[in-house]
Amino acid sequence: MRRSDTWWRGAAIYQVYLRSFADGNGDGVGDLAGLRGRLPYLAELGVNAVWLNPWYPSPMADGGYDVADYRDIEPVFGTLGEAELLIEEAHALGIRIIVDVVPNHSSTESAWFREALAGGPGSAARERFWFRDEPGGWRSIFGGPAWTQAPDGQWYLHLFAPEQPDLNWDNPEVHQEFHDVLRFWFDRGVDGVRIDSAALLMKSETGFEDLDEVHEVYRGWRRIADEYGGRVLIGEVWLPDQERFARYLRPDELHTAFNFDFLACPWDPEALRRSIDQTLATHLPLGAPPTWVLSNHDVTRVVTRYGRADTSWDNGARRDGAPADLELGHRRARAAALLAMALPGGVYVYQGEELGLPEVEDIPGELRQDPIWRRSDGTVPGRDGCRVPLPWSGEHPPFGFGAGEPWLPQPGEWRELTAEAQDTDLGSMLNLYRTGLRLRRDHLGDGTLTWLPLGPGVLAFTRESGLTCVVNLGPDPIGLPPHDRVLLASGPIEGDALPADTAAWIYAR
Ligand code: NOJ
Repeated sequence: MRRSDTWWRGAAIYQVYLRSFADGNGDGVGDLAGLRGRLPYLAELGVNAVWLNPWYPSPMADGGYDVADYRDIEPVFGTLGEAELLIEEAHALGIRIIVDVVPNHSSTESAWFREALAGGPGSAARERFWFRDEPGGWRSIFGGPAWTQAPDGQWYLHLFAPEQPDLNWDNPEVHQEFHDVLRFWFDRGVDGVRIDSAALLMKSETGFEDLDEVHEVYRGWRRIADEYGGRVLIGEVWLPDQERFARYLRPDELHTAFNFDFLACPWDPEALRRSIDQTLATHLPLGAPPTWVLSNHDVTRVVTRYGRADTSWDNGARRDGAPADLELGHRRARAAALLAMALPGGVYVYQGEELGLPEVEDIPGELRQDPIWRRSDGTVPGRDGCRVPLPWSGEHPPFGFGAGEPWLPQPGEWRELTAEAQDTDLGSMLNLYRTGLRLRRDHLGDGTLTWLPLGPGVLAFTRESGLTCVVNLGPDPIGLPPHDRVLLASGPIEGDALPADTAAWIYAR
């Protein structure tokens, strides 16, 4: 495939949560065979790249974010050979491949951690992790203490689950290891990496979030990416302070980072306008393209979120189970999709977002797998509800996901939301995404915007191509500004009136 060095600046990137995308071998778990079989679906959807959540050998204590070997593929997902075929086949369809790299922590089943346990206190192998004679006071992000005792009495640090021991980035061997891992995947044609928990790597007596030393790590990674050319480094950086966030996007560090401020923003015109303006102000001076993210595998699905009384997102207060008007949420999610796709920069689509899937909130406790559920003693349902296997076709579960029973149960109502059911329905969410992404290729993506003052409750802006996006977040219909054509709308438009919670792309020339 032709390798433009800056393809990622305006890319539409589709997130594949492999376990739940498509199951090729009938064991109930999504895999590479399933994904390879569905590449034509992704090509038709019109995305430029796929980001895969971790696909490495893993005991799956945290859905694969507990990596036992960074240079191989989890056998449940397939083989390294199949991964290489996937990269080749995706490239042939014009789709780039981004893999997830998890540098903050590894797995208790990794060779390094086993060596550390076997080596005992004081061994060089323990210096790759954080072993101490006494536990510290930090709490794990998944709940409970962040220190667990090894059989010989020492304690090790894990910011997440006990099965995810934190690596010691003060140790040069750890740096070297990840340089090799980057090269391993770049050598196989991978086009970029998504960096998990990117701000947490360094630790000090006082804390672990966003320590200045972490930037040196990414300067090293950037040198490697630049050597290869056309590879993108994408940071998972949850930092509310924009000035601190921006430091990760300096020209010699990461290329882009997820825009969680936009994701967390309520469905409210002023808050969204503030978030967009702040995002542009942070990115444009750095020359880094913004990204627009509505959902991912860690947050409540957007249709459900936007149907709640409080439409904002807060990792610490997930609002699981709060009442949701799904019809309203669906309408808003359609409008939000057109907004996100029209904004300057890159856009992310989390699998199932294009089908308008809601959060599944009634998964029985005994089937839940998220460590958040276990570590909160069943008080916080966690993230399984946005990870339910996709419905592809048919009238009944497993809805074409695969031959076996899916690892999480799919709701029967999803018969109306299958890709097959939506394929020929021109008004479906799937076709909204397909048309939006197709138009986006020619008219939108990288660049900047000019706001149009259409009054309170309305977000309206024009892009360089002349395409204008108008989103009505107020309670009443508004008049669309003069235009030649409506290219796409998220809901029915009567005459020139754009109803509440509806977006339109219009063209004035
Ligand atoms: C962020 C990932 O997105 C999430 O799924 C994971 O649990 C944590 N990092 C820990 O790796």
